Amino acid sequence: MYEETFQVIVRRRQEQGKDIIVVDLARPDGGELPPFEAGAHVDLYLNNGLVRQYSLASRPSDRHVYRLGILRDPASRGGSIAAHACLIEGAIVRIGTPRNNFPLVSNAKRSVLVGGGIGITPLIAMAWSLHDTAANFELHYCSRSRSACAFLDELAASPFAARVHLHFDDEPSNQQLNLATVLAGADVDTHIYTCGPKGFMDWVIGEARRLGIPDRNIHKEYFQADTNTDGAAFDVIAKKSGKKVRVAEGQSIVDALATVGIKVNVSCKQGVCGSCLCTVLEGEPDHRDVFLTDEERAANDQILLCCSRAKTPYLVLDI
Ligand code: FES
Repeated sequence: MYEETFQVIVRRRQEQGKDIIVVDLARPDGGELPPFEAGAHVDLYLNNGLVRQYSLASRPSDRHVYRLGILRDPASRGGSIAAHACLIEGAIVRIGTPRNNFPLVSNAKRSVLVGGGIGITPLIAMAWSLHDTAANFELHYCSRSRSACAFLDELAASPFAARVHLHFDDEPSNQQLNLATVLAGADVDTHIYTCGPKGFMDWVIGEARRLGIPDRNIHKEYFQADTNTDGAAFDVIAKKSGKKVRVAEGQSIVDALATVGIKVNVSCKQGVCGSCLCTVLEGEPDHRDVFLTDEERAANDQILLCCSRAKTPYLVLDI
C-alpha cells in the first residue's frame, strides 16, 4: 500500500518553451516512487492551499522520477502561478498517489496520440508505455509555434522519435495535422487519444467522429470543465444525512451542502478530478464536468458536485 499523499523533492527544473516549466520530482531519499500507468496525474498541494492536478509525462517504467510540464497561465485561478513559484530545485512539496482517468486500451492494434500545447504531457507517458510494449502508435504534437513547445529535445532523443510528428500553426501548411490522412484506414482496433485546450480537443473529437471513429475508441482528457454554475435554482435532498437544501442560481452543490453542515471532498473544483463524485438516487443531473464518460453521463446515476446542476426540480443524492 502507498500513502495517499507523500513528499517529493524537486530534483530538476527547466524552463522550456514559452512560460512552461518541466520539473522532475523524486523521493527525497532517492527511493522508488509509487507506480503509475500512462495517462495518470498527481494532485499537487500548493503553498497557497490550492490543489491542482498535473499529468505525468515521464516513462512509467522509471520508478525514480515523476516529470511534470506546467504552463504558467495568467488567466488561471492561481494554480499554475503558484506551481511556478513553489517548484524550485530543492523544494519539498506534497503530492498525491497517481490516479488515472485517461488509461490506454491495452490491446489496441494502433494508437494515435494527439496533443495540443501542454496537453502533450500525458501523451508522452503513453508513448513511452506503448514503446515499452512494442505497440503500434504515433504521437502528434500540435502547437502555435516551435518556440512555445516543451519536451522537443526529449522527444527527438527518444527511441520512438520516428513516431513523433510535429505540427506548428506558424509553419508551412504541409506539416499541419490532417486527421483525415492520419486516420485513413483506421479500423475497429484503432484508438485515438487527445489532450489539450478545449477548442483543440473539440476539433480533434469532431474530426475523429466525422471520419467514422466510434466514440468508444476516442479517449480524451480535458484540463478544465465548463464550470459556470448558471441555471435555475433547485433542491438537493441528502438522503444519508436526512437534510434538504436549496442550491441557488450561481451556487455549487458543494457550497449549498456546506451551509447545512455537509462537507464534500473536493480537490480541483473544476469537474476534472472526480473527488466530489456522488451517486444520484433520483432526478436528472445537468452534467458540467469533464470527468464522466459519455456513457456514465447518459446513465444519470452519478454527479460531480463541484460543478454540475440539475435538470429536474430536485436531486436526491446518496450523501
Ligand atoms: S472537485 Fe474535482 S471534480 Fe469536483
